[in-house]
Amino acid sequence: MNKRQISFTDDKYEPVELPDEACLSEHLTVQNSPILFGCRIGICGTCLVEVVSEKDPLTERTENEKEFLDALLPDRKECRLACQVNINTDIKLKKIEL
Ligand code: FES
Repeated sequence: MNKRQISFTDDKYEPVELPDEACLSEHLTVQNSPILFGCRIGICGTCLVEVVSEKDPLTERTENEKEFLDALLPDRKECRLACQVNINTDIKLKKIEL
C-alpha cells in the first residue's frame, strides 16, 4: 500500500506518513499535528486547514464540506475540513484559526 506524507507549516511537528486513503481525523492527534478535531463529521469547523501544497489534486470536497466552506470562507478554495479528507497524495497543511 502506498504511503502519503502529511507535513505542516508549523515546524514544531514532524511530517506524518499515512497509508493511501487514510482519513486524517483517524490519524492526526494533538501529539503529532497542530490540527484539532471536534465533531469529526464536518459541522464544527475546528479542523479547518489551508492546503499549502499538494503533489496531486486532493479528493473532491463532498457536498456538505463544499456548503460549509462556501458559507464560511467563500473565497478560499484551498481550504478544507481536515476531518473530511481521505488522503490520496502528499500534502502540506496550515491550521487556520478563525
Ligand atoms: S472536526 Fe468538526 S468540521 Fe472537522
